[in-house]
Amino acid sequence: MSAPIDRALVPDGILALGAAGLEELAAQYGTPLFVYDEDDLRRRCREYAAHFGPDAVAYASKAFLCTAMARLVDEEALHLDVATGGELHVALHAGFPPERMVLHGNNKSEEELAAALDAGVGRIVLDSFDELDRLEALAAGRPTPPRVLVRVTPGVEAHTHVFIETGTEESKFGFTVSDGVARRAAQRVAESPVLAFAGLHAHIGSQVYVLESYRRAVDIVVALAAEIEGTGHAVEELNFGGGLGVRYLLDDPQREVADYAKTLHDALAEAASESGLTAVPRVMVEPGRSIAATAAVTIYRVGTVKEIPGGLTYVAVDGGMSDNPRPVLYGAGYEVYLPARIDEDRPLVCSIAGKHCEQGDVIISDARLPAGVAVGDLLAVPVTGAYGYSMASNYNKVPRPGVVFVKDGQARLVVRRETLDDLIRLDLP
Ligand code: LLP
Repeated sequence: MSAPIDRALVPDGILALGAAGLEELAAQYGTPLFVYDEDDLRRRCREYAAHFGPDAVAYASKAFLCTAMARLVDEEALHLDVATGGELHVALHAGFPPERMVLHGNNKSEEELAAALDAGVGRIVLDSFDELDRLEALAAGRPTPPRVLVRVTPGVEAHTHVFIETGTEESKFGFTVSDGVARRAAQRVAESPVLAFAGLHAHIGSQVYVLESYRRAVDIVVALAAEIEGTGHAVEELNFGGGLGVRYLLDDPQREVADYAKTLHDALAEAASESGLTAVPRVMVEPGRSIAATAAVTIYRVGTVKEIPGGLTYVAVDGGMSDNPRPVLYGAGYEVYLPARIDEDRPLVCSIAGKHCEQGDVIISDARLPAGVAVGDLLAVPVTGAYGYSMASNYNKVPRPGVVFVKDGQARLVVRRETLDDLIRLDLP
């Protein structure tokens, strides 16, 4: 139980930097700091492109987005999923081609829809009848009808945390399949004179380890596609969202993109022939976590070590729930290591505490570290590349960390650390 960290959890580019390299980054950019291995990000983009085809993969920007990330995804020729006007804005600012963007959101405003239409985004995923009315009104009179996918909830459990499970019938997203609502929505889009019906979309949830859940979603979505085809409307594409789970803890399983792709493709072929669907639609996916998560570590500086008689030890660091709210939100677990002592056993059972003013601000409650961890040590939490920086806050007026991309041993700051002045930039006298 006191084994060293598994180096497989840390990207090669970060391992290559070693403790000295991370110390240098900490000295230059401060801590906490998100350190991404650029090659690791690109490798995962390429892995997805190889198994699905580049035109069939949209990186889900909610996992991690900044100008540099949007450009990297563009260079890798993937598509980009944007779920708000804000994500759309950052992507456009980065020069990401709008025709390769997919716009999501369960409550898109008129402004967001209009911005997407003005920009010429490639796909809009429709989520409700209210939105359909809004979109039709905005699309009327435009030279080209926007391509629209209809988001459906297939009624499938993804066996993940309930906050990130989205394919069940109780979901706030999309149109329910079982009661015919999804079919009616698709029909309305297909018959709209101002919209172009492109296909169906289903995202069953995030951090999904049970690939079988995808198979069941495919069956249901394909049956629906066959029904729609039967009414005379072609279903060109099926987008199965994202969700592939990643390994955070030593005991977590490792899911391969190859197996995920095979599951989806096999299930599609089988379901298409069983349902009598004649034109087999092309498949798209929207991975976020499985591209970004493993590419980054967060480095922190230890500020105090508190040993409570009876055994509990708190190792407090200079970040916390403001740079990683996932433990507090979902009970998510992480590993941790001391870069300077990466191959040492970790016999010390401790809690890695944040610096925020609440007892629940604990990044890892049952962490393992080498004995003798001390004030001033640099500590690294791996697999923080997804939904860490993107969900960061200024709670307790803590400035958000910087983000660096490392490539060939060279670091480039891609998001600067916030300053104290940033904390008051919106305040009016
Ligand atoms: N497509 C759609 C429509 C989505 O809603 C999501 C994630 C994705 C793709 C990407 O899913 P991924 O491949 O990253 O699992 N904050 C949570 C995760 C929320 C996921 C929301 N939607 C967390 O930290 O676990």
